[in-house]
Amino acid sequence: MNEISCCTVSCDKPLDQDYWDAQYKANTTGWDLGLVSPPIKAYIDTLKDKDIAILIPGCGNTYEAAYLLEQGFTNITVIDIAPTLVKIIEEKFITNTRIQVLLGDFFNHKGEYDLIIEQTFFCALPPTMRQKYVWKMHELLAKDGILAGLLFNRKFEVSPPFGGSQEEYDLLFKNAFDFIKLEKSDNSIAPRSNSELYFEFKKNGAVKVNLYEFEGITCSGCMNTVTEKFAAVKDVLNVSMNGNFTEVLIVSTIEIPLEELQKIVSYDDHYKIKKITQ
Ligand SMILES: C[S@@+](CC[C@H](N)C(=O)[O-])C[C@H]1O[C@@H](n2cnc3c(N)ncnc32)[C@H](O)[C@@H]1O
Repeated sequence: MNEISCCTVSCDKPLDQDYWDAQYKANTTGWDLGLVSPPIKAYIDTLKDKDIAILIPGCGNTYEAAYLLEQGFTNITVIDIAPTLVKIIEEKFITNTRIQVLLGDFFNHKGEYDLIIEQTFFCALPPTMRQKYVWKMHELLAKDGILAGLLFNRKFEVSPPFGGSQEEYDLLFKNAFDFIKLEKSDNSIAPRSNSELYFEFKKNGAVKVNLYEFEGITCSGCMNTVTEKFAAVKDVLNVSMNGNFTEVLIVSTIEIPLEELQKIVSYDDHYKIKKITQ
């Protein structure tokens, strides 16, 4: 299950705005493909409606957005936390009214999108933020909205990027999204061949997806107990706790009252649960 996973960078310094901006300033942007990722290009080529609202979070140099513009899409938003990068792409797209370039933290962003494109943003986040990522993506998508893109299907010795596996993504996204595709990508660029999964997930609008702060757990055994207790609640479909036991994602068919969740963990005085609303 979820052990606390550490990495060179995230334990030494936070992966915050300063960290990412420094990478752009120093030009240490090894993730930058210099072109639209082929599996994403192939997916874009299948889209008929050019007026759908599209978001690209952690957009970087956003060759995906450039390709969308070339193809005539009219409603594109890109967001990145690194000011140095955002200044460059603002200038690049300055005369184009079909794209909005935002400087900011994706997790504070508000909006409603038909499609969100994932391209090396998920893997740039500390793994402890993965539950928050699922919750935020679900919130930002319109009814029947699609989250599509690429996820790594491998581990890395030095991170970021942070790797993962199909099994992990299955457990993380299930019930919040309907899986249209989650499969080995057969058209990744050569350096990433056999190491990416291509996915298309449709928002499950019939469920409640809530994220809670959790306090008091200190070991994975206790986490498993708490997770199992929440999962046993009638109407709960999926429970996933992050690797440092501070956030829990609960997918359910109806809203579960906070008091009920707190009562379930009241056997330990240290356990406190609080709903995250922003
Ligand atoms: C690995 S890079 C990928 C960039 C781009 N998607 C690409 O493939 O070239 C991750 C990007 O996410 C941005 N980022 C990291 N955390 C962010 C956050 N919380 N909100 C918005 N952008 C963020 C970084 O500034 C960086 O540009």
